[in-house]
Amino acid sequence: MESIVDQISFGGIVAIRDSLLKRQSEGGKVYRLESGDPSFDIPPHVRDAMIDALMKGYTHYTESTGIRPLREAAYQKVVEENKIPLKDPNHVLITNGAMHALYVTFRALLIPGDEVIIPDPMWTEIADNVRLAGGIPVRCRLKPENNFVYDPSDVESLITSKTKAIFINTPHNPTGAVFPKNILEEIGEIAIKKNLYIVSDEAYEHIIYDGLKHVSIGSLPGVEDRTISIFSASKSFAMSGLRIGYIATNIDKIIERGKKLLRCTINGVNSIAQYGALAALRGPKDYIEEMRREYQLRRDMIYDTTSKLKSLKPFKPRGAFYIWCKISEDWRDSEGKRSDWAMTNYLLKFGLGSTPGSEFGPASSEYIRFSFSCATSHLAESLEMLKKVLE
Ligand SMILES: Cc1ncc(COP(=O)(O)O)c(C=O)c1O
Repeated sequence: MESIVDQISFGGIVAIRDSLLKRQSEGGKVYRLESGDPSFDIPPHVRDAMIDALMKGYTHYTESTGIRPLREAAYQKVVEENKIPLKDPNHVLITNGAMHALYVTFRALLIPGDEVIIPDPMWTEIADNVRLAGGIPVRCRLKPENNFVYDPSDVESLITSKTKAIFINTPHNPTGAVFPKNILEEIGEIAIKKNLYIVSDEAYEHIIYDGLKHVSIGSLPGVEDRTISIFSASKSFAMSGLRIGYIATNIDKIIERGKKLLRCTINGVNSIAQYGALAALRGPKDYIEEMRREYQLRRDMIYDTTSKLKSLKPFKPRGAFYIWCKISEDWRDSEGKRSDWAMTNYLLKFGLGSTPGSEFGPASSEYIRFSFSCATSHLAESLEMLKKVLE
């Protein structure tokens, strides 16, 4: 009998990374524009807090929902910074990254056959996590003419008697789109009218450009009791390998089911990483702005280069650290093929990493994604190479 897990692929990105690592091990030069891992080190006070926790012997089991001070610090941040009227720290669950928060959320929310409206394109793991919970991802096309944000009327047209939730991700992976407040308000009104939940993935909340401000949909009036908000320390504090995320929701049933899922999946996140996250949330925040500025510089570099190349038509990212480019009508590889995989494979021959658009949804095979989370000097070298091989 087929397991639900058989519906999940290994992901094309793995094959691209393997090819680059193989080239590197053979002494070849590689340019890592496929990877979405922050280049920055963790801040010194986070590192020191983890060393301190280790020295004090905080290496035992913790509460499976997360250590109390971390839940309190996350609660305070969500209320003060995100302006989400969360009831109390008991309505925060600490997870093994936002990835695990998504798994827990969909598993707690869905029953088999429930539909979740998700953006198309979307980071692959969203549809996979909906499927793992027995749900059905229903893709809502994000159009370039709408700056790759939901058209609320498109969202509404996809609602059926099976729809359980609308999924939102802003800033958005892979397009770098930022959903403005008025669109979030309209989505909120639809959710209220149709009695739907909202799942909001805000992993890139601090990586936002051009003076735009991140808006958490959970802060809008009327949706506070139907929204599940997901956050991550991976991008905000460059703590990707330490695996800290959190769920914030006023929905008691999700918290209750979430607690059971946490107990049975991880039984508490790595204790040392939790003390690191506590220091990150409680400590100085100026480095968030320093990283944001550096990402904006990289965004300008990659947008400038790609917009001058005839083979690519980039969308200017307003947040996150990806650039989403349409492959020009007249671009062809040496065998005369024009597709996302053709371009990715062509670039791989020169050690250049990218991610084909169809990895984010079948309708995006004319697109390609480049990441600019690598070091600025590495990005500069990579862009020189990209120019050389695409011109
Ligand atoms: C949209 C989105 N959500 C969540 C995550 C997962 O982040 P974490 O490292 O916290 O699991 C990612 C990671 O790339 C992402 O792109």
